[in-house]
Amino acid sequence: MTDITYEFAERVAVVTGAATGIGEATARALSDSGAHVFLLDIDTERGAMLGQEVGTFIETDVTSLESLDRTFAEISRSHGRLDVLVNNAGGFGTQATTETVDPSEWRALVELNLTSVFLTCRTAIPLLRRSSAGRIVNVGSLAGQTGGYRTSPAYAAAKAGVHAYTRVLAHELAEDGITVNAIAPSAVLTDRIRAVRDEAERAATAASIPLGRYQTPDELAAWIMFLASDESGFMTGETVAVNGGRFMT
Ligand SMILES: NC(=O)c1ccc[n+]([C@@H]2O[C@H](COP(=O)([O-])OP(=O)(O)OC[C@H]3O[C@@H](n4cnc5c(N)ncnc54)[C@H](O)[C@@H]3O)[C@@H](O)[C@H]2O)c1
Repeated sequence: MTDITYEFAERVAVVTGAATGIGEATARALSDSGAHVFLLDIDTERGAMLGQEVGTFIETDVTSLESLDRTFAEISRSHGRLDVLVNNAGGFGTQATTETVDPSEWRALVELNLTSVFLTCRTAIPLLRRSSAGRIVNVGSLAGQTGGYRTSPAYAAAKAGVHAYTRVLAHELAEDGITVNAIAPSAVLTDRIRAVRDEAERAATAASIPLGRYQTPDELAAWIMFLASDESGFMTGETVAVNGGRFMT
């Protein structure tokens, strides 16, 4: 955990993909700082378990407008507004190239990593407008900034879309006082990373990062907390790069 503290008492927050990894760390940090956190995920088992400890779990598929409509209607009924939306759900499984990626996998990755952000924002905006300090934080990726290597082409393209969409949405919502920023991590050691990269691959990745290691989910959550806090109130449309210097390599 970080020593930096932000005040989220009375704030209502949504974290997508909150059942594990970066989303879980963010949901815990927001809850520890006083927010009422709604944890949205398709993983009902982990989500429900975590919900009991951290906030309120609502089974939600962020690629489905029907599912999102149901979820935000429930939040509207119980709390009447939303202060913080963290669009974190995303990721990829296989590392492919343009010639090997299946077009259906490409479409699914764009749905999960980019279209989901649009659908969630579209559904949440009426509730965010009722906040006095609305904040949207989109989780992008270094892959979307550099193209990266050993990544998925659809994932990198979708995350680049998240960064561009962040700027468009920041313009759209500025007059409502809602800020929209993205964060672009590079290598955060979550269970998903442990599953897709074996120990040797993880060591090679760590060695390729100037600071020589993976970032922890808690460290990244601290950045997300800043972007969700009052302290970042004059910042909008930015993508914050937090990558241990990997952007430079
Ligand atoms: N871990 C990293 O190194 C890294 C680097 C750059 C960017 N990111 C981004 O950070 C975010 C979180 O990554 P992570 O490593 O914590 O991932 P993770 O796989 O550990 O967690 C993702 C969560 O999203 C949920 N999810 C998947 N599909 C969903 C859907 N359709 N609707 C709702 N929930 C869904 C999963 O059930 C899971 O709980 C992702 O957007 C990822 O692309 C991660």
